[in-house]
Amino acid sequence: MKTEILPSLLAADPGTLADEIRRVAASGADALHLDVMDGHFVPNLSFSPDTAALCRRVLPEGFPINTHLMITNPGDYAVRFVGKGSTTIQFHLELDVNVRALAAEIHASGARVGLVINPDTPVERALQYADCADEVLCMTVFPGYGGQAFIADVLPKVERLRARFHWLDIMVDGGVNAETAVLAAKAGANQFVAGSYLFAAEDMAAAVAGLRSRIDGVRGV
Ligand code: DX5
Ligand code: ZN
Repeated sequence: MKTEILPSLLAADPGTLADEIRRVAASGADALHLDVMDGHFVPNLSFSPDTAALCRRVLPEGFPINTHLMITNPGDYAVRFVGKGSTTIQFHLELDVNVRALAAEIHASGARVGLVINPDTPVERALQYADCADEVLCMTVFPGYGGQAFIADVLPKVERLRARFHWLDIMVDGGVNAETAVLAAKAGANQFVAGSYLFAAEDMAAAVAGLRSRIDGVRGV
């Protein structure tokens, strides 16, 4: 699996959002990570389908938009996000949804499927459904806010998933920086979301390149 670095738009300056999206496109990152919060599944609100449309308009053609739905009713919105330009839809396994049916619906709409587990959700939940997904995201913070500290206790879950699913894209999200990315890469992750670390960088392209070389050094790719 390819190493992928995904800046999280949650950490962008909302006053210059279009420019921030262009900064992601020019940074050498592999995709943009779009966090969608409903104030119910998580205690915060963030982006909407309109933001996905803005990203689609501003990003170069084909640039992936990885959309992390932190919402109680992902089935009501998943296909709508795909219609606006999202290329991967991620939804949480803490929810009472028909995982296989929703994954099939997302695939039928032409997008990739990501399954997400919170730091306190057992890895078994992801192991049970990983066969119907393209990627599994192990949250390394409790979702809702950027800028939190990386929870290293999550990493054994990454190891378990990697041991069983060699082909699977495995992502970490939350508190990722040059040090914690190395820990996650050692555990078997190949996709790395970073918000505050990358947007705080004066030169995002240099930060992405630095992160990638540290990760690839560990992964031996
Ligand atoms: C947290 C979000 C993350 C967040 C990561 O709820 O899912 O994507 O933007 O931000 P950092 O990298 O600052 O922890
Ligand atoms: Zn996220």
